[in-house]
Amino acid sequence: MRTTVVLLVLLGCCLTGVQLQNEEREISQSTTQPNIWAELKELRDMVTEQRVELAVTKAELAELKKENEVLTNMVLEENELGSVEARLRTSELQRENEESPKVAFSAALNDVGYVGTSNADKTLIYTKVFTNIGNHYNPATGIFTAPVGGVYYFTFTAFGGNRHRNIGSFLYRNAERMVSVQDHHKSSYGEDQVTNAAVLQLEEGDQVSMRLNPGFSVYDNSANLSTFSGFLLFPM
Ligand SMILES: *[C@@H]1O[C@H](CO)[C@@H](O)[C@H](O)[C@H]1NC(C)=O
Repeated sequence: MRTTVVLLVLLGCCLTGVQLQNEEREISQSTTQPNIWAELKELRDMVTEQRVELAVTKAELAELKKENEVLTNMVLEENELGSVEARLRTSELQRENEESPKVAFSAALNDVGYVGTSNADKTLIYTKVFTNIGNHYNPATGIFTAPVGGVYYFTFTAFGGNRHRNIGSFLYRNAERMVSVQDHHKSSYGEDQVTNAAVLQLEEGDQVSMRLNPGFSVYDNSANLSTFSGFLLFPM
């Protein structure tokens, strides 16, 4: 009887032990298996997520590359345009320079002594020509004729020195009096040289000349004291 009890107890213990072991295994299985799946799922999700991120990054990178290419091309094109423009400008200037006529003259009255007029305007004829590029100043008439429309510079100097005469001469554009020099010598004797200048915009064919009005005179001798000069600044 005792032995039976002991055996039963032992068996019970053994059974409990086995049962416990089984339970433990079950518990450990039920705790490890779901974790692996969850983790796997998590990993898969992560991979998917990273793939998406990678794809987005790749797309962004491609976009940036494209933008960079476009910008680079624009800069290159601009540089090319710049140098083309510079070359065009240079050749334009060269052409302008070649096309722009060269116009310049300078002349003196020559050894004429006093030139005066008493009752009418008189065109001064500067016959001693120093320079006459393009031959647009006529030393036979004293008239400069503009070969092209443009801006011209003129300057003139008149010498005089006699108490009975007033020094004076006048620059005319066609029939219009533009600028003058005057020096009244009636009261005292003295030698004077008076000068003036003007920048004039002329039409092609406009005429510029120096004239005396009644009562005025200018003087010159071999020293080239009274002169008339002009040149084209630029066509317009
Ligand atoms: C006047 O001009 C002539 C040349 O046309 C020159 O030989 C002469 O030396 C000039 N006279 C003076 C005083 O400048």
